[in-house]
Amino acid sequence: MPVHAVPALTQDAAIPPATPRRVLRADVLDFTGDPGFAAPAEAEGVAASVRWRPDHLVCIEGGRIAAVRPAAEGLPAGWEGEDIGDHRGRLLMPGFIDTHVHCPQLDVIASHGTALLDWLNTYTFPAERRYADPEVSRQGAARFLRALWAHGSTSAVVFPTVHKVSAEALFAQAHAQGMRLVTGKVLMNRFAPAGLLDDVDGAERDCTELIARWHGRGRLAYAVTVRFAPTSTPEQLAMAGRLCQVPGTFMQTHVAENQDEVRWVMSLYPQARSYLDVYDRAGLLGPRAVLAHGIWLDARDRAVLRERGAQIAHCPGSNLFLGSGLFDWAQAQREGLHVSLASDVGGGTSLCLLRNMGDAYKVQALQGTRLSAWKALHAATLGAAQALGLDAEIGRVEPGCMADLCVWDWAVGEVAGHRDALAREALDGSAAGLHPRLFAWMTLGDERNLAATWVAGRPVYLRGEHVT
Ligand code: GUN
Ligand code: ZN
Repeated sequence: MPVHAVPALTQDAAIPPATPRRVLRADVLDFTGDPGFAAPAEAEGVAASVRWRPDHLVCIEGGRIAAVRPAAEGLPAGWEGEDIGDHRGRLLMPGFIDTHVHCPQLDVIASHGTALLDWLNTYTFPAERRYADPEVSRQGAARFLRALWAHGSTSAVVFPTVHKVSAEALFAQAHAQGMRLVTGKVLMNRFAPAGLLDDVDGAERDCTELIARWHGRGRLAYAVTVRFAPTSTPEQLAMAGRLCQVPGTFMQTHVAENQDEVRWVMSLYPQARSYLDVYDRAGLLGPRAVLAHGIWLDARDRAVLRERGAQIAHCPGSNLFLGSGLFDWAQAQREGLHVSLASDVGGGTSLCLLRNMGDAYKVQALQGTRLSAWKALHAATLGAAQALGLDAEIGRVEPGCMADLCVWDWAVGEVAGHRDALAREALDGSAAGLHPRLFAWMTLGDERNLAATWVAGRPVYLRGEHVT
């Protein structure tokens, strides 16, 4: 297998063999291409990339989508008599893909008053120390995955803590649900308190064992997880670079999030041309590298990212909350970078990518760009799937793809209901004509709009019900 290829789903794909057939009826929206930063109603861009299928049946079997067809045509041959989950008038989309989020930081979400480096020392590091306890890790992973599903995300690239048990807990519980999850033990061997530090040899041993046990198993993949350049010595970064040679492994880290952080990195690595160059020299940048933030990169850094095929996980909610800066998404697009959307909880304040899309709109607006709902929703579905090399599996409502799906209400509450009713009057049946309604939904909506979530065809969240 070539370096960076993702192993195919194995037989042991953790999709319970008894997964029943299921049919969902709803208005289906997904993407077949990147709508870019074109104005939302530009017919050409929209027609080429937006797939709007009102009142369709989505047939699910063995955890995968088997067929998608107009409800007016009825069920496919051989499916007669199947129960239909009736979500008429609701929006069905691929589950969102959160490409950068920290499991243990649910414990510190919404902590007041600090920028990145003080926030890490004051809130984050003390909270992460608790995950040395296997029971804390186990309960934390269960709470975190439930929360992802209840906020509309069905796949994620996740930071646990430095402790091997915290990665184990995430892998085990995602595997039990047949969920696509990318994670790996955090590497950090300096500038953190006792109880949160590893060492190069011990970390390499832990990573190697975790890779052997979990990487490529079911829908799991290992991510070599460098917290950020300051908390690893050059020797540890070199070790991480070697681990990235294991076929199919991802790499996740933070880069150029905050100006004090950038200055600190340059003082620690004076021989590097830039913060990003520290990672490049260590062999950490490739097509499966996911770098959070990238606000303070320069043109040469962006060219390197493009050449390596790495992606930026844009975390608008976190960037606003921590006061880190404004990521220029339109510029990144012009320069050919892959950009996905991420919550970065607990720097971010919501796991719901709809809320992060609302923040992304405002971050771009402050820089003179008007982000469309098409572009934002594409980045959280097909765009992220393609950037991760997983688009044959996730990110679309397409026969053969896994049935990782969410059904959303268009409006919750009187204000959104009123706005939606007016937007509905203006519909003309076209995809382009849908944008005003979709944009209002994206901007006013949040996890309260989510009616249900399925992972590999199984319900993992039903609003108001307890799902075991
Ligand atoms: N940089 C290093 N660690 C972190 C973290 O946990 N969150 C964020 N937002 N940035 C980081
Ligand atoms: Zn982060």
